[in-house]
Parts: sequence; structure tokens; C-alpha cells
Amino acid sequence: MSLLSALSIICGLMLHVSCSALNNRYCVPRKTVPYQNELKLFREEGISNYSTMLMRDELGVLLLGAREAIYALDINNISDRKSAVYWRVTEEKQMECTYKGKHAEVECRNYIRTLHRVNDTAMYVCGTNAFSPTCDYMTFANGQLRLLGKQEEGKGKCPFDPFQRYSSLMVGNDLYSATSINFLGSEPVVLRSSNLALRTEFKSSWLSEPNFVYMDFVGESFDSSDGDDDKVYLFFSENAMEYDFYSKVAVSRVARVCKEDMGGQRTLQRKWTSFLKARLDCSLPEPSLPPIVQDVFLLKHEDWRKSVFYAVFTPQSSLSQVSAVCAYSMSAIRDTFNEGKFKTPVAVETSHVKWVMYTGEVPVPRPGACINNVARKMGMNRSLDLPDKTLQFIRDRPLMDEAVRPLTGGPLLVKRGALLTRIVVDHVLALDGQRYAVMFIGTENGYVQKAVNYGGEMFIIEEIQLYENPEPISILRLSSSKGQLYAGSQFGAIQMPVSNCSRYNTCVDCILARDPYCAWDFSTEQCSSVSSLPPSSNTAMQSLKEGDISQCPQPELVAAVDVTLVPENNIQLPCQLHSNLAQVLWRFSDQTLHSNHKYYIYNGGLLILSASESDAGLYTCDSVEQMNGRTYNRTMAVYRLQLYFGPAAGESTTPGNEVSNSSGSVHALNTAAPGTGPNEGNEDLLHPETQSDSGRVTRLEVAVALLSLLCLSLMGVIFWIWSRGRWECLKFAKSSGESEAKRQSGEYMHIQNRTSEIKLLGPESVRPCSANNNHSAVDFKGNGEHHFTPMANISSLDGLGYINDESEI
Ligand SMILES: *[C@@H]1O[C@H](CO)[C@@H](O)[C@H](O)[C@H]1NC(C)=O
Ligand SMILES: *[C@@H]1O[C@H](CO)[C@@H](O)[C@H](O)[C@H]1NC(C)=O
Ligand SMILES: *[C@@H]1O[C@H](CO)[C@@H](O)[C@H](O)[C@H]1NC(C)=O
Ligand SMILES: *[C@@H]1O[C@H](CO)[C@@H](O)[C@H](O)[C@H]1NC(C)=O
Ligand SMILES: *[C@@H]1O[C@H](CO)[C@@H](O)[C@H](O)[C@H]1NC(C)=O
Ligand SMILES: *[C@@H]1O[C@H](CO)[C@@H](O)[C@H](O)[C@H]1NC(C)=O
Ligand SMILES: *[C@@H]1O[C@H](CO)[C@@H](O)[C@H](O)[C@H]1NC(C)=O
Repeated sequence: MSLLSALSIICGLMLHVSCSALNNRYCVPRKTVPYQNELKLFREEGISNYSTMLMRDELGVLLLGAREAIYALDINNISDRKSAVYWRVTEEKQMECTYKGKHAEVECRNYIRTLHRVNDTAMYVCGTNAFSPTCDYMTFANGQLRLLGKQEEGKGKCPFDPFQRYSSLMVGNDLYSATSINFLGSEPVVLRSSNLALRTEFKSSWLSEPNFVYMDFVGESFDSSDGDDDKVYLFFSENAMEYDFYSKVAVSRVARVCKEDMGGQRTLQRKWTSFLKARLDCSLPEPSLPPIVQDVFLLKHEDWRKSVFYAVFTPQSSLSQVSAVCAYSMSAIRDTFNEGKFKTPVAVETSHVKWVMYTGEVPVPRPGACINNVARKMGMNRSLDLPDKTLQFIRDRPLMDEAVRPLTGGPLLVKRGALLTRIVVDHVLALDGQRYAVMFIGTENGYVQKAVNYGGEMFIIEEIQLYENPEPISILRLSSSKGQLYAGSQFGAIQMPVSNCSRYNTCVDCILARDPYCAWDFSTEQCSSVSSLPPSSNTAMQSLKEGDISQCPQPELVAAVDVTLVPENNIQLPCQLHSNLAQVLWRFSDQTLHSNHKYYIYNGGLLILSASESDAGLYTCDSVEQMNGRTYNRTMAVYRLQLYFGPAAGESTTPGNEVSNSSGSVHALNTAAPGTGPNEGNEDLLHPETQSDSGRVTRLEVAVALLSLLCLSLMGVIFWIWSRGRWECLKFAKSSGESEAKRQSGEYMHIQNRTSEIKLLGPESVRPCSANNNHSAVDFKGNGEHHFTPMANISSLDGLGYINDESEI
């Protein structure tokens, strides 16, 4: 019985792997750029939570708000601090806060949450100030930041709770904020602080335990044929009122208010008369509860009608690890609010209310509409003039019946693995004269994913590790003009260029990267930034949609590296691919190698176990990459194994190459396995940029390889059982493979091949065994893509139960 359950565990692990392999095409960035010290970092010892930013291009500074500190940093080099001010909580405030049951060192501090421009020199700043939100003015003049010490009440402008999501926006002299107005965080408001302050009604039909994430302004009065008003759009999630569920279900919303709203005369006095909200639809490929909006970015277009909102969604259930990006056109949102039907509550049983589509007559002027030509014609120039009928209608029915559908019908991007947190989008002019929306998406583990959607094809150009330790990116800002990205986390702020074309050092690599910022320049033979090319330069090439390398010059032949073969030793031949999407193909005198008892193909190369004389010969490592149905083969490394006629094996005189010194015991190899540092002079073959890092990984992987041998016999048993059709999980593997194929039939062959490989002895299937041996921390792609649940957790579950769990994810 215990053997059986052990087998079922491994079966479960293998399924896990094969499932993520099936989905790889949808979420794997082509390139992973590990943490580099070159990125400019700003942090100060003892200060944390760098999560508020304000770019002041004209002042040449980035203002950065942290816990009890605000910095003015050089916008071109954030490591260069121009000035700082500290705004600490008073002891008295901290005591007061502690008495109310809050944590003195965590909650009862002053977290800077609000930073807005007021005029050329002044800024408006608010902090949580030990659960007693306070605001102040701040100036930056003569290189010095200064707080004016005005200590304005910050209730409603800034949250009490430093952990609460919130959003605010300065429009002219008016501060729009969406947060809780009380200590307990139970009274949410959307507030405009101005000469005529307005807020939302305290009704759960308006806001029900909301989580505010984003606000932006759209100047819709410009060039408006119906005399419409400017608006502020707000994105948040809240408890759904439109679903009949036993438990609470959250939904994502977009809401808006009109800039010139002045509230009602009797009804809705000092309340918004134009607060309308609609559900945001972003359906994930797998059935699930509605995903939750985490961040939004408005990609502005000269014509506001063509502006697009990009939104990041994460699953509501913590079981799932699939995030998505959906985009919404300004016009779709506008149509929903301006023309859509309303929802209305109806009492179905005593105390139970159901929200259904409202089919009765809608009063004129239309409830929730801004003052426009229609209203003006009726003699209503201000919201104060609106009739009670219109106002009562909107007070009781702020929700639109229809959800706003994404621009492309479904998500632009679906990503498995570490959850996405923040997004900014750049509009990049490419060589073909078109503009492409490049998304930069921060993750929970400190990476930025750089992605484009080429006509429905999701493509993640690269993922860049910004923080050495995995930590959530809590703010992301883009300066399109400077080509810089600014990220913040608990640990510090990072500045990163939007592209680094010099990372691609061959024409093929440059073109296959499909990065709209980069083009291959034939005149300099470099991958160069498009913006740095001289205008009307016609020596550069891009192939963004196709990734067509046919115009690239033939790559130079790769010189063979001589390696000495010492019989009975293990031989390691490194080979690093340029792309995560490529598959490695090892050949030995025209015969394709697979992982088996003799060879182990791992991420960084090939391991020949206990070599013998017959292994002498030529080994070729090819990278095979699929791009839009085309296959690109490229030889990455060639090794010539030659028999060594020196002292007997095991004597420590083995020549310097990748020939291991020990004779195959796990422990010996684990400690004695060489790093990837090859002979001098061959370094260009072997990616110098990743060597230092891969040395460590390689050692682990080699150990994994040997451990995996122990698993092989077990695998054999599993396969035997599989072939007898005894295991439910095979059915599952098949059916998930098929449904995937339906979705993307073009990938079908590719996936099938890969799955069958894994079922047998593919390298991935071997890896999970290592999870049993404290190597679960080995992260083969460096980004937490492959989560191998440690065995300890699984063994408490019964095998098939685990498989069922997997099918839910
Ligand atoms: C950025 O500023 C830091 C601190 O002043 C300085 O050490 C560094 O050299 C600067 N980097 C560049 C590229 O100017
Ligand atoms: C900027 O705003 C501040 C605060 O409202 C005000 O005191 C100051 O006079 C303004 N400065 C200018 C140049 O308008
Ligand atoms: C602030 O940073 C600390 C770690 O430096 C973290 O534990 C805490 O959760 C952060 N607080 C907020 C509000 O993000
Ligand atoms: C509305 O504005 C128009 C033109 O500005 C004016 O003629 C009219 O009297 C105003 N109506 C009210 C009720 O104020
Ligand atoms: C760009 O990439 C190259 C090669 O990896 C690296 O040396 C350089 O420091 C990078 N530049 C920046 C600004 O990150
Ligand atoms: C590339 O590799 C594949 C897979 O081994 C092979 O079938 C194909 O013929 C190769 N194509 C070229 C152009 O070498
Ligand atoms: C071979 O291994 C022994 C111990 O296992 C070690 O002392 C020796 O330095 C190694 N030689 C080489 C060339 O790595």
C-alpha cells in the first residue's frame, strides 16, 4: 500500500509537470534576465515600503514616498539622491494608535501614500500617520525638499490602514480619492476634496467592501458633439450584488464620475449624481470565480476615444496561479455607461434582494449622465438643477446591467506562475511606422514581464529580475520620453531601461526577440535601439509579427571544443540556449540523444554518465525554436570527445575541461562537479553573461541528474502500470492535452511529442524526484515557474486526491 501511494505521488508530480509543459507556450517569457547589479537602485538603510512615486520631469526628479520619508531622486539616475525629508509619527500619536489595538512598529507609523503635483513648485503629500491620516504641502526648490508643516486632516484623502489599497488623483486643484473614511475601514468613499466637496452615498449598493486600485482622468469634453463633461474613472473590486451565491463573491468594477458634478439640490445633496459602475469582464481560460483587478494603466491617445485601459487580474481563489491582462477600449466603457441598461433590485423573499435588468421607463435627463446638451436644452446647466426623479433613480441603481467586455474578446495575456501585480504600457514606434503597445508587468516575486500582443498572439519578450530577493512589486511607473521604468517594493526603488538591445548579440537573436524597441542594424552589425537609429536609416531590420530571420547573415560555424574522455568518468558538456522557448537537441555522430541511463540532458548541457571508449566522437548541441510555425535550428556548441591516454582514471590529473574527476557516486559528483567555466577562448560559445550564476545551478542539476537515476526504476514501474490502463491520471493527462489542442490546434503536434517524451524519460519528468531531496528550491528558470511541491506536503494527501486538486488548478 505504501509503495502504491508513493507511486501515486510521483504520478501526481509527473502530471503536474506535464500540465505546466502543456501551458508553457502561453506563459513562458522567451528570455529570462537574472538579477544584475547594473540596475540603478535607491534605498536607505532603516527605511522601507517604497511604494509611492511622482514623476516631475520638468524638475528633473522622481519623488519617492516610503515609510516616514520622502526623497527627491535624479530622474535619470535614481541612485543619486538630491534631497530627503523625514516625516515621523510623534510618540503621542504612536501611543494613541497602540492603545486602539494596532501594532506599534508596523501599523502605527507614517506610511506616505499620496504624492500629487499642485503647481510648479508645490506638491501635496499625505501619510497614514499612525492610523490618523494627515496631509501637508511640500516644495522642491534649489535642490531642497521641504514640508510646510500644515498638518491638514487627511481623512478620506488617504487610508488609515497602511495595508489597504487605495487610489487618488489630482485634477486641477481638486483631489479625488477612493478610500475608507473611518478608523475601522468600514466606510468606503469616493471623495472629491474641493470648494464643493462631493462623496458617494453610504450604501452597499454603491460600494460594498471595495478594494480601490486605480483612478484616471479622461478629458471627454474635448471635441464632444453632445457637449459632454470630463470624467474621472475608477477601478476597484467589491462584493458582488448581482450573483446568487451562498458565500461572498468579489467582482471587478469600473466606475466613473463627472468633473462638473455638484451634487443634487434635495436628493443626493453633496453626493455624486453621476456615479455609475459596471462589471469588468476578463474571463480566464479555465472556469473560475471572476478574477480580481489588481492594477490598471490608461494608455492615452491624442483622441481620447481611442485610449485604452489595460488591467491586470489575479484569481480570487488562492488555489489558482493564473493571472491575466485584459484591455478595455474607452469607447466600450463609455457606451456601457451612456447607453447601457441599468440593473435594479427586486425583493424575492423577505430580506433577500436580487439584481435584475431594469426594463421600465428611464427618466430624462438620463440618470448618471453628465450635464450635456440634452440637459442644457431642458434648462439644466448644473447637476443641482436635475429633477428628483432622475436623482432618485440613480441613487438606487448605480450598477449597469451589462459588463464591459475586453477589447479582444478575451485576455491579451495569460500567465501561469508568480502572480502579476502592477502594469504600465508604452506605445512604441517600430520601424514599420506602426505603434505597438508594450506591456511591462510587475510580479509578486520581483520580476518585470515585458510582453506584446501581436495580432492575438501573446508574446512575452523577456522577464527581468529586478530584486535579488523575491518581493512583490508594489508600484510601477513609466517615463516614455526617457525610456525608463521605475519600480518600488518594500526593499527599495529600481530604475530600469525599457530595453537593452545589446543583450541580443546576433542578428538571429535580435530578430527572434521581436522587441519593438530593437532592430538589427546591418551597418554596425549590432542590435540597436530603434530610437537611436538615424532617421531615414534603411540599414536596419525588424520582423515583429513574424520573427523572420531569413535576411540575417548565415551564422559563423561554431568551432569544436576538444574535451578529454577519461573512461568511467562522468562528462559534462555545457550548452546554454538563448531562449526559454527553444528546445535543446543533442546529437552524437548523427544520432539524436535522449535522457536515459547513459545521458542526462539538463537545462545547462549534457551529462554523459560513466563514459566509455565508444563515447568518443563529435557532440553537437542545437537549439530548435518554433516561431510562428517556423522552426529555427541553430548550433550552439560542438565538442570533440577524445580518449585520454594519460594516468588512469580517478587520479587527480584530469585535464581542465568539463571532465569530472569522480566516478559516479552522487555525493562525490555533487561536490566535485565543475562549474561551467570552460576553457579560455571558448567563452563566446558559452554565454559569459550567465556563467557565474549557472555554475551553482549546474552543480545542483548534475546532482539532480544522478538522483534521478534512482528514480528511473520507479518510473519504469509507473509506466508499466500506465500502460495497463490502471491509472485515472492518464485519462486526465490525455483529456487536458486534448482540450489544450482544441484551443491552439497549431501547437498540437508539438505538445503531443513533448508529452509523450515526458511520459517516458524526458528530463522534466526526472526533476520532480529531486523535490524529495531538498532540492525543491532549485528553480530551473529562476522565476518560480516550476513549482515542485515538496514531498512532505504531498505525502499527507492520498494520491488520487492530489491529482484531483491538480485538475482544479
Ligand atoms: C548614479 O548615481 C550614483 C550615486 O551618485 C553614482 O555612483 C553612479 O555613478 C551614477 N551612475 C551613472 C550612470 O551616472
Ligand atoms: C503653489 O501652491 C502653493 C500651495 O497651494 C501656494 O502656496 C503657492 O503660492 C503656489 N505657487 C505658485 C507659484 O503658484
Ligand atoms: C513594509 O515593509 C515591511 C518589510 O520591510 C513589510 O513587512 C510590510 O508588510 C510592509 N508594509 C506595507 C504596508 O506594505
Ligand atoms: C443656463 O445657461 C443658459 C446659457 O448659459 C442661460 O441662458 C440659462 O438661463 C441658464 N439656465 C439656468 C436655469 O440657469
Ligand atoms: C545591457 O546589457 C548588457 C549585456 O548584458 C550589459 O552589459 C549592460 O550593463 C546592460 N545595460 C543596462 C543599462 O542594463
Ligand atoms: C531542424 O531540426 C529538426 C528537428 O530535429 C529537423 O527535423 C529539421 O530538419 C532541422 N531543420 C533544419 C533547417 O536544419
Ligand atoms: C579530484 O578529486 C579530489 C578529491 O575527490 C580532489 O582532491 C582533486 O583536487 C580533484 N581533482 C580535480 C582535477 O578536480
